[in-house]
Amino acid sequence: MKQTVTTLQKMKDNHQKISMLTAYDYTTAKLVDQAGVHMILVGDSLGMTMLGYENTLQVTMEDMIHHGRAVARGAKESMVVVDMPFMSYQTSVYDAVVNAGRLVKEGGAHAVKLEGGERVCPHIKAITEASIPVVAHLGLTPQSVNEFGGYKVQGKSLDAARTLIEDAKRVEAAGAFAIVLECVPDKLAGIITEEVSVPTIGIGAGPDCDGQVLVYQDMLGMYGDMQPKFAKRFEKVGEIMKQAFRNYCQEVAKGVFPAEEHCFHIDEEILKCVGENK
Ligand code: KIV
Repeated sequence: MKQTVTTLQKMKDNHQKISMLTAYDYTTAKLVDQAGVHMILVGDSLGMTMLGYENTLQVTMEDMIHHGRAVARGAKESMVVVDMPFMSYQTSVYDAVVNAGRLVKEGGAHAVKLEGGERVCPHIKAITEASIPVVAHLGLTPQSVNEFGGYKVQGKSLDAARTLIEDAKRVEAAGAFAIVLECVPDKLAGIITEEVSVPTIGIGAGPDCDGQVLVYQDMLGMYGDMQPKFAKRFEKVGEIMKQAFRNYCQEVAKGVFPAEEHCFHIDEEILKCVGENK
């Protein structure tokens, strides 16, 4: 079934859990879509996982459009959400609407995601008024890594917890149809999930959220640089890939690959003539 804002809202209302995974290319998007994952996030985490940057700050609109378009071609039923990169919306409400529009028109997005609470509510309102669905992102918002001084769990003090709850209500009121909660204490995420009527999607926010999201390289053990506490490793795909690459190297070195079944053949008569013309 094709996932829309309506089907996802119904899932929350019926207490059915929503699954979301990142994907950044056609092949992976097709696999994720065929596996029945409800939402695909073309996250700006691609700055690290695909482009090898230290954080998400260098990711551009062109990067997001390039990867979004590839994912959109692979996703038939999953909803494709594309991240608004750093400085594509913080500069003004006008920029936010123009760039969200580009992610839809050029990047194949069904919805966009942006980070922040109260200070981006005018942006969320304007984008939704342009008929573009918005996913809000609260808690640990990686584009603010320099402001936070690192990647830390958010909402642990009384003030911070209250602000998170208020921000969730504010982004919902501004028009967000879902809220990603990243690195938020599990019980607080549960309270937020009860306080808002739109789905919450957690990453490091415990089981009481309406859905979960993971970066696919983390859950497959493909991204060795860092393994966050919340990222359960479902398979060691990185190891499997590395072993296959080693096997390939060895077979090439030994002349075992390519074998007979991997070769194309030419008619013996033609071959003879080619030989005679030499
Ligand atoms: O960019 C991303 O992958 C994200 C997830 C961590 C939620 O925003």
